[in-house]
Amino acid sequence: MRLSLFLTLALTALIEAHSIIVYPGWRGNNLITNDTFPYGMQWMYPCGGIGTTRNRTYWPTTGGAVSFQPGWFRGHLTAQLQINLGYGTDGPDGGPPNMSNIMVKPFMLQGPTNNPYPGTVCLPQVPLPAGANVSAGDRATIQVVELAQHGAALYSCVDIIFAEPGDPRIPIVNETNCFNSTQFGFAQIYTITTQEPILDVVSSTTSDAESLRKYSWAGWLPLVAGAMWMAL
Ligand SMILES: *[C@@H]1O[C@H](CO)[C@@H](O)[C@H](O)[C@H]1NC(C)=O
Ligand SMILES: *[C@@H]1O[C@H](CO)[C@@H](O)[C@H](O)[C@H]1NC(C)=O
Ligand SMILES: *[C@@H]1O[C@H](CO)[C@@H](O)[C@H](O)[C@H]1NC(C)=O
Ligand SMILES: *[C@@H]1O[C@H](CO)[C@@H](O)[C@H](O)[C@H]1NC(C)=O
Ligand SMILES: *[C@@H]1O[C@H](CO)[C@@H](O)[C@H](O)[C@H]1NC(C)=O
Ligand SMILES: *[C@@H]1O[C@H](CO)[C@@H](O)[C@H](O)[C@H]1NC(C)=O
Repeated sequence: MRLSLFLTLALTALIEAHSIIVYPGWRGNNLITNDTFPYGMQWMYPCGGIGTTRNRTYWPTTGGAVSFQPGWFRGHLTAQLQINLGYGTDGPDGGPPNMSNIMVKPFMLQGPTNNPYPGTVCLPQVPLPAGANVSAGDRATIQVVELAQHGAALYSCVDIIFAEPGDPRIPIVNETNCFNSTQFGFAQIYTITTQEPILDVVSSTTSDAESLRKYSWAGWLPLVAGAMWMAL
């Protein structure tokens, strides 16, 4: 009890001083649970319940640092972390049309406890997504995803404007805003295939409307669901 009170106080102090995405910036405080967000804002896809911001921050065209605090909620004794990018302003609310461009593939964070905990994770050189072609002045949104042990995910975003490396408008990265707390461990994620997919159904039907009709919608549902998931 006393420990959790202490932790709450410590976290409250941190809230005053920090944000969830410490670097390069944050859309704003989404650590809120109220009647509009009964489960908590930060669990809302794609950006934790906060719309696109006007106060964009500058970030290098060659990729750069992303630093964040992963421990604000319960359920993250281990957490899967991923960073994505959405391009441009053609999507909802003047943000990107999707967040489907992967910058950092999922990796595992090993936290100190399943309760909320303080601490910072710093990725000093997050690359642009594969095939990216950005110029200074282009707009984009960086999304940090944190998948909890129980399968739900926290989302936080920062809206950026790309700038040439060395541009003075890019906020400085140093050991104050970008460091790994020592109580964190990290792990890579592997998968082992237990059954290969059988692909000839797809390849023989996608080009052939007649044979496509032979398959009931039920059979196609997983594919449709998969396509919708991709669109996210
Ligand atoms: C943008 O403004 C909001 C609201 O004042 C603030 O919480 C947020 O940290 C700001 N973001 C940046 C990148 O300055
Ligand atoms: C809940 O918090 C959000 C973010 O501050 C706010 O936009 C919304 O109006 C709040 N809802 C209620 C019912 O207070
Ligand atoms: C990159 O984008 C610029 C303009 O936005 C375009 O002129 C150029 O051809 C693109 N390069 C590649 C490799 O797509
Ligand atoms: C890092 O940069 C920030 C902002 O410029 C500054 O307030 C802080 O003192 C710097 N920390 C170090 C260790 O230089
Ligand atoms: C923090 O840990 C991650 C994962 O091991 C690593 O990629 C990153 O370089 C570390 N950051 C710093 C500042 O050393
Ligand atoms: C995501 O949006 C980009 C434009 O930013 C578009 O080129 C791409 O096809 C979209 N991806 C998906 C899976 O919808």
